[in-house]
Amino acid sequence: MANFIKISKTIEPFYRSLSIEGDKSLSIRWALLASQAKGKSTCKNILRSEDVISTLKCLKKLGINYNLKKNSCEIFGNGLNNFNYKENTILDAGNSGTLSRLILGLLVHSEKKVFLKGDKSLSKRDFLRVTEPLKKFGARFKTNSGKLPITVIGTKFPKPIKYHELKGSAQCKSSVMLAALNTKGTTFIKAKKSRTHTEILFKNLKLSIKVKKQKNFDFIKVKGGKSIRPLNYSIPSDISSCAFFIVLAALSKNSFLRIKNVNINSSRTGILEILKLMGISIEIKRKKIYKGEKVADLIIRSKETIKPINCPKKLNSAAIDEFLLIFLVSAKAKGISYFKDLSELNQKESPRLLWGAKILNKMGIKTVLTKNSIKIYGNPKIQIKKNIVIKNFLKDHRVFMSSVVAALVFGGKWKIYDKVSIKTSFPTFISKIKSLGAVVT
Ligand code: S3P
Repeated sequence: MANFIKISKTIEPFYRSLSIEGDKSLSIRWALLASQAKGKSTCKNILRSEDVISTLKCLKKLGINYNLKKNSCEIFGNGLNNFNYKENTILDAGNSGTLSRLILGLLVHSEKKVFLKGDKSLSKRDFLRVTEPLKKFGARFKTNSGKLPITVIGTKFPKPIKYHELKGSAQCKSSVMLAALNTKGTTFIKAKKSRTHTEILFKNLKLSIKVKKQKNFDFIKVKGGKSIRPLNYSIPSDISSCAFFIVLAALSKNSFLRIKNVNINSSRTGILEILKLMGISIEIKRKKIYKGEKVADLIIRSKETIKPINCPKKLNSAAIDEFLLIFLVSAKAKGISYFKDLSELNQKESPRLLWGAKILNKMGIKTVLTKNSIKIYGNPKIQIKKNIVIKNFLKDHRVFMSSVVAALVFGGKWKIYDKVSIKTSFPTFISKIKSLGAVVT
């Protein structure tokens, strides 16, 4: 089967309702926490993507049994800090930054040597951001110049730490929180704002956690050593996956889309706030709270005129996985958009700030790029006529799916490689796009 798709026709107007798969961050966190509980935890609507399957497989290698059924998943936890594995076990995190960084937090106490590896993209990413704070608990890490593969030798007597998280990375914050869970005493974290799922799950499990929110930072105290009860959960839809459809509907002509049961935790809704500033308002209906997480239906209507934005940097973290799409919206804005303080985007599955500019340039949109910012010269009349090829993007799922959206709304003849990349986070992406009427070959 060819590993590329071709699109040469914009999508016709659509009027539809959609359900999107479960949230990736929550699916991985649920599995890791369930592994530390004593007994069976069950989860409905878990995301069945490669990142989540890699999580289950890593846990299995650490002695945790699971049962992945058609509509649910069960994990049989051995209790806090009770992994059971052979010395020199090799864990493969595949493409997943979240799994690899968070699981290191759980391994801080495992004295038998473990190796952690990943795919080509993950092996280019920075791990010092987690091994440096985790070392302070007393564990030892041997990295490949700060990257994977990593050897971990945990400690029997971890000490609680004080940690200042400065990047706004939920992966770093959560990794330390998981290490703190298994460490007697209180760990203090001062963290730049980032997604809050781990804090919410800890609270839901009645673990000993205190969070004080301030303007730019959150202060988190975790007192470790408390046993964890099993966690039954039902994962709401992933706003980062919904974002492809939000932007597709907003930029397509005369279209309407309702997406049901989406996680709208405010640390994830930067895309909604940014689009609102650009003149695209998304209606939020049937709001409810599920185990501490906000959930709602989203209603999106097409928008002809789009305003440029000088994007406030305080929205960066809550929209961190959506910028490739936001850049596409800016391509159609009437004026110049500016996004700053975005060096973290180049630390993702591919250097995404660079890829954002590359895609726009191929579309004929002018950009001015620096190491941490981009200016986008929008063209409200944009209509592509030429051939565009997108390849060699380290199989970054979000580069692939954003390119598909661009092809479906702006026209041109596109050949987009590495369609297998969708398996990382959104395996049904192409079938869902087709169900809206997209012609994809
Ligand atoms: C994630 C945090 C973010 C995000 C990633 C998922 C998480 O990464 O980009 O897709 O689940 O904690 P950083 O922590 O590196 O910002």
